[in-house]
Amino acid sequence: MGKSYSTERGLVHAVVGVDLRVPAGQFVAIVGRSGSGKSSLMAMIGGLSRPTRGVVRVSGAEIWKMPDSRLAEFRSREMGFVFQFPSLLPTLRIIDNVALPALLNSRKEEAAAYEKAAELLTELELADYVDAYPHEISAGEQRRVAIARALINSPSLLIADEPTSDLDEQTEIEIIDRLYRLNRDRGVTLIMVTHNLALAQRADRILHIANGGLVA
Ligand SMILES: Nc1ncnc2c1ncn2[C@@H]1O[C@H](COP(=O)(O)OP(=O)(O)OP(=O)(O)O)[C@@H](O)[C@H]1O
Ligand SMILES: [Mg+2]
Repeated sequence: MGKSYSTERGLVHAVVGVDLRVPAGQFVAIVGRSGSGKSSLMAMIGGLSRPTRGVVRVSGAEIWKMPDSRLAEFRSREMGFVFQFPSLLPTLRIIDNVALPALLNSRKEEAAAYEKAAELLTELELADYVDAYPHEISAGEQRRVAIARALINSPSLLIADEPTSDLDEQTEIEIIDRLYRLNRDRGVTLIMVTHNLALAQRADRILHIANGGLVA
């Protein structure tokens, strides 16, 4: 699969001929320098940015053949995302932020969505903060809220793009640990971009990306 952006300076080839198969339940770490194409690759896999070449199959479905509405529905059912910045909605309480993806597309009844959100927040040791607003909790806590939000629809694939950037080392280890356990205990397929090589070692497989391509 490939991705080129057309810019005023001409075409930028961000991802070039990446051929990748990730078996269900695998934990894949993606490492590479800034600008090497990691986020572009993740966005294509996650159904957020259309490839300019090639196909993406998730759970057997060719996602970029789907009409937008179906892709959005598929994404919210099958995939969870944790990004570098948690992007919580500032005017909603923590529990509302977590429940929201379950309420969109009426995936769940409201009561069930809130029950599941509370459960996830307890599991992530955030039970004290359910009624707090995002600005009232720390960056690491916000990251954990984002993980809870990513899990509310029980996705089969979790996509994490530098989920621990800007956090102290201990918090980083704790968060990667959470993701690792989700993969091990629940069999969630995990694709994670990280700059931390020590943490990447915990993956089943490490992919190095340079200049938009995989390197051995
Ligand atoms: N929307 C865009 N329009 C034009 N060029 C883009 C766009 N997004 C990314 N690029 C370019 O594509 C290349 C890959 O960018 P990408 O964000 O995928 O890198 P990355 O490996 O995630 O980097 P980082 O570690 O800094 O997050 C870069 O040269 C970047 O400038
Ligand atoms: Mg990036």
